[in-house]
Amino acid sequence: MISGKKIILAITGSIAAYKSIILLRLLTKAGADVQVVMTPAAADFVSPLTLSTLSGQPVHMDLFKDGSWSNHVMLGRSADLLLVAPASCNTLAKMAHGICDNLVLATYLSATCPVMLAPAMDEDMWHHPATKHNIEQLQAFGHALIPVEHGSLASGLVGEGRMAEPETMLPYIEAFFASQSRLIGKRILVTAGPTYEPLDPVRFIGNHSSGKMGLALTQEFAKRGATVSLVLGPDVQLPSLPSTVQVTKVTTADQMYQACMSQFSEVDIAVMAAAVADYTPVVVAEEKIKKAGSELLIELRKTKDILKAMGQVKKSNQYLVGFALETTNEEEYAKGKLVAKNADMIVLNSLNDPAAGFGKDTNKVTIFDREGGVQSFPAKSKIDVAKDIIDLIQQKLDV
Ligand code: CTP
Repeated sequence: MISGKKIILAITGSIAAYKSIILLRLLTKAGADVQVVMTPAAADFVSPLTLSTLSGQPVHMDLFKDGSWSNHVMLGRSADLLLVAPASCNTLAKMAHGICDNLVLATYLSATCPVMLAPAMDEDMWHHPATKHNIEQLQAFGHALIPVEHGSLASGLVGEGRMAEPETMLPYIEAFFASQSRLIGKRILVTAGPTYEPLDPVRFIGNHSSGKMGLALTQEFAKRGATVSLVLGPDVQLPSLPSTVQVTKVTTADQMYQACMSQFSEVDIAVMAAAVADYTPVVVAEEKIKKAGSELLIELRKTKDILKAMGQVKKSNQYLVGFALETTNEEEYAKGKLVAKNADMIVLNSLNDPAAGFGKDTNKVTIFDREGGVQSFPAKSKIDVAKDIIDLIQQKLDV
């Protein structure tokens, strides 16, 4: 899996940099084409000469050298993976905030390839809320994390924060490429966000969906090599997405229906994470509705159920996943939707659970499939929930 892959190994200033020499050796032995970039602080710990000898390529450290500019943009565009190991506390903070004051950060900010981080720092730094926040932010960008280990630290203390051993990292990198490649060539449709149903030129009926779950699914599918078409409701903050993601922005449930149905026949997997309005005003006033009388009655008509419409035309080689957001009788309603909409899988999240719901960065789901399988997961970040959902889809499709 690693053989032939182009990996950028970015080394930052930490004593754990000595392990990157062994990691580089393991990667090149496994057949990877490794380009090393490093921060000036990393050069205090390991010598660029050692790294260039082992990688067989010059090591890049400077944004400008001898009056010429280093093309960091092309580095991160042509790679299969940017692996930051060790990722120091300082570099993680700068990455989370888009700071660009060295070649490693410039390469990171212009990279279009997946990013994997192997943090290394002292235990107190690792547990500091600022570091936790930065790590969460980087995971929300869709970056993979190689967990830190427990053991002796540079401070002389024993605790969490050690960079994983190179022999432990290698299986992570292998698993990453393995999971990624299985979805290469697959076309995925994802819906995300709310819909807004206009009442007049200034008002609409909407909902609190943040679109985060659908965006996490989009990022994870893209990371695994799939081509994703994202149909996105209004007012959703769009993260930077790889070029394999095509975004169609819509506002109303009818527009979302049109955008989805026009491409459904072309896709292998559809995941409907959007919170689509069930009803829309019968009449949209051309002028602002003026205040009059003590009550205002608005007549609504049912919107088209996109998931159900897909279920009706679904071919045997297509896999259809819906969501259910419930407040009561959750399991019964979720199973009902599985049958009524002819879906292959329904992901249930309950508004009663403190970890689930609109706007949160976490979710707690139970997944029902058409074969009667039920899997409950603990509360996790939406990125990790997306991984669980996609793992299960891949398991079902045996890809
Ligand atoms: N859905 C859809 N089109 C609609 C309404 C819902 O495609 N017009 C999809 C959602 O994206 C989700 C699933 O159907 O994947 C279930 O949505 P949910 O709102 O939980 O259920 P509804 O079918 O709308 O039923 P109810 O609101 O009565 O629970």
